[in-house]
Amino acid sequence: MNFTQETVIGVIGSGAMGAGIAQVAAVAGHKVIVYDNNSAALGKSKSNLTATLQKLQEKGKLASADEVMQRFSFADNIAAFADCGLIVEAIVEKLEVKKAVFSEVEKVVNADCILATNTSSLSVTSIAAACKDASRVIGLHFFNPAPLMALVEVIPAIQTNADLVPKAVALMGKWGKTPVIAKDTPGFIVNRVARPFYGEAIRIYEEGIADMATIDWAMTEIGGFKMGPFTLMDYIGHDVNYVVTETVFLSFFYDPRYKPSFSQKRLLEAGWLGRKSGKGFYNYAEGAVLPQANKDIVLGTEIFERILAMLINEATDALYLNVASGSDLETAMTKGVNYPKGLLQWCNEWGTDKCLEKLDDLYHQYHEDRYRASILLRKQAMGNKKIV
Ligand SMILES: NC(=O)c1ccc[n+]([C@@H]2O[C@H](COP(=O)([O-])OP(=O)(O)OC[C@H]3O[C@@H](n4cnc5c(N)ncnc54)[C@H](O)[C@@H]3O)[C@@H](O)[C@H]2O)c1
Repeated sequence: MNFTQETVIGVIGSGAMGAGIAQVAAVAGHKVIVYDNNSAALGKSKSNLTATLQKLQEKGKLASADEVMQRFSFADNIAAFADCGLIVEAIVEKLEVKKAVFSEVEKVVNADCILATNTSSLSVTSIAAACKDASRVIGLHFFNPAPLMALVEVIPAIQTNADLVPKAVALMGKWGKTPVIAKDTPGFIVNRVARPFYGEAIRIYEEGIADMATIDWAMTEIGGFKMGPFTLMDYIGHDVNYVVTETVFLSFFYDPRYKPSFSQKRLLEAGWLGRKSGKGFYNYAEGAVLPQANKDIVLGTEIFERILAMLINEATDALYLNVASGSDLETAMTKGVNYPKGLLQWCNEWGTDKCLEKLDDLYHQYHEDRYRASILLRKQAMGNKKIV
């Protein structure tokens, strides 16, 4: 299959991600068919898309909302996908449901139709295994909101036809996206490498080293991150962020580096999902008194350096284990989660020896495997070398 502008795109699931991906494809000039098994969700996505495109036109960011809208059709049956050249699935994050849908959709499409999944945390390989022709399946992981976030992780399953990868990369480029290639391993690039931003911050908080406001202050004011970890987790929602952490932890065979925390699990259990429910780590009720940071620069620097060392270690290990190329790792973290700098560059600027020393200090202090340094970081530091 060669993708052209005439390729009809099918999108399964009309929720936050499906609607966003459909918008990106239609704005790029494709005919798009959106299918959802919930007719109310489908109707809502149609009216939301109409309103969004209208707004873009008013702002001068789109020549004609009507023209784009005419490329859409909304279907309540997957039989509508018969002429699609590419189908992107963005339904509920449940392996068995996704597998059932892939198996069904394969029955209605042409032999050369490509099937992509937008899964955040499931194995693309296991989803592909539901298809008779698993070589046509690939991961296309967009970020939320899909029309605004440039990054797309392109994830070949082990069964994926190798020729498909450059074609998918080129198509994402045509859609105005910045594609990176990631190995089919838990969390791909971003959701793996970013884990310590949340996990280590919570660990510091649980140990009573600092409160949430101080950790958030350290990461934004000293570290230069756009949002502190607790503010960001509340923004993402604990139903999403905690579940990704738990899935990554389980998928890595309980590697302590990714261990979830009780503090966050309890928030989920209480239904304190963050901003969207009015309460999470912070209270978003009107008039609520927000905690103030302890702006002690020594404490702040200690917090920032501990979290940064853990992030750098994660990026270094992902590089060592060929999860992605060095440049794709940098692109993923700067475009996918807006880090102020690529972590490998940060490591080089900081010095591989300093990163290693920080991790070894933590390792000796805690005697926990969680703080083991990547062998690549150790080798480069011992040889007085940069990471790449
Ligand atoms: N929300 C995010 O930040 C984000 C980011 C990247 C990737 N993802 C991934 O994208 C996928 C969708 O996430 P979302 O946030 O858009 O979810 P969502 O809950 O907003 O939307 C899912 C939609 O899929 C529909 N659906 C569920 N089961 C279906 C089925 N069997 N057949 C057809 N339609 C079905 C639902 O009716 C719903 O409209 C998930 O795999 C998720 O992991 C989410």
